[in-house]
Amino acid sequence: MKLKIAVLPGDGIGPEITQQSVKVLKAVADRFDHHFEFEEALVGAAAIDLLDSPLPEATLELCKNSDAVLFGAIGDPKYDNNPDAKVRPEQGLLKLRKELGLFANVRPVKAYDKLIPQSPLKADRIGGADMVIYRELTGGIYFGEKSTAEDGQSASDLCSYSVEEITRIAHLAFKAAQQRNKKLTLVDKANVLETSRLWRKTVTEIAKEYPQVKLDFLFVDNAAMQMILNPTQFDVILTENMFGDILSDEASVIGGSIGLLASASVGKENAMFEPIHGSYPQATGKGIANPVASILSAAMLLEHFGLTEEAEAVKKSVELSIKLNVCTIDINKDNHYTTDKVGGFLEGLISEVENISINNENLNLGQMTII
Ligand code: IPM
Ligand code: MG
Repeated sequence: MKLKIAVLPGDGIGPEITQQSVKVLKAVADRFDHHFEFEEALVGAAAIDLLDSPLPEATLELCKNSDAVLFGAIGDPKYDNNPDAKVRPEQGLLKLRKELGLFANVRPVKAYDKLIPQSPLKADRIGGADMVIYRELTGGIYFGEKSTAEDGQSASDLCSYSVEEITRIAHLAFKAAQQRNKKLTLVDKANVLETSRLWRKTVTEIAKEYPQVKLDFLFVDNAAMQMILNPTQFDVILTENMFGDILSDEASVIGGSIGLLASASVGKENAMFEPIHGSYPQATGKGIANPVASILSAAMLLEHFGLTEEAEAVKKSVELSIKLNVCTIDINKDNHYTTDKVGGFLEGLISEVENISINNENLNLGQMTII
């Protein structure tokens, strides 16, 4: 398959982790005989510094003319600590999502057996947790009208949703539930918010088209608690933009590290793949950032284009690296590997896999030769 992939490394650890996913995708292309073409562009603080815009026109054009976008991370503390900043890096990501029509953000969360003992949550609660969050991505309070009064004494962010916006993501979430454990939980705040009541009404109506899927509802405050108390109850979670943002960070604790959580943002015509973590400025350039979330996002890219075997190869190699403890410091505290080494190991596994039969002993051997 021929794919043109726009690479937007962005800020902080974005460039170093994205570099690893590109390595892995190149290994996939070599092994499975595909042709992936990569082209880089600026976004975020990196783009503001050079071109005064968090999403330069050339970047947007490149993304529109590519089959997929591989996104790194966005954000810089110099803007976080300045509430008066007129331009912010995050605006680049939000505009990109809107312009590309990426209305559904898909965030899978699962507990890796090996990492369960390290989780701050009790093992018997999280063992077997496996869910996917469908977060609406181009509506709600993120994109409603914003204003600050001239006297600076009040401000407003409007939250609004249309039936159409709810319907298009709801269908994707129901279809996913049909392929999984046939349970969909709508997370909202319908006891308080008008928009949430519209979500409930619309989703209840759509559920009739998916009789095999069991639909239930949770208020977001309760959902936040249930995520920690009993995460195995979830299969597919469907929710609006802001609730999805918050719940997916919370859910990352189940996976053992936020450095493992990937996401796909899809629309009618475009698709973007990005880790759910931020730019982690304190780690920039130190070689300690976990590249796995970005690499698993690349696996979601492959899946999106129907390259299932290829995506499996990437996911399998990640699972093996975790099993063998070839991990960055967030996971492997005592004997950690650098960002580049972990990426190189996964790249090596994918390229070498034909020569290495999949068993632990050989992989240990592989580990020594590849690293
Ligand atoms: C995410 C991030 C973004 C969001 C920020 C960087 C704007 O937290 O993708 O979850 O809030 O959507
Ligand atoms: Mg977030």
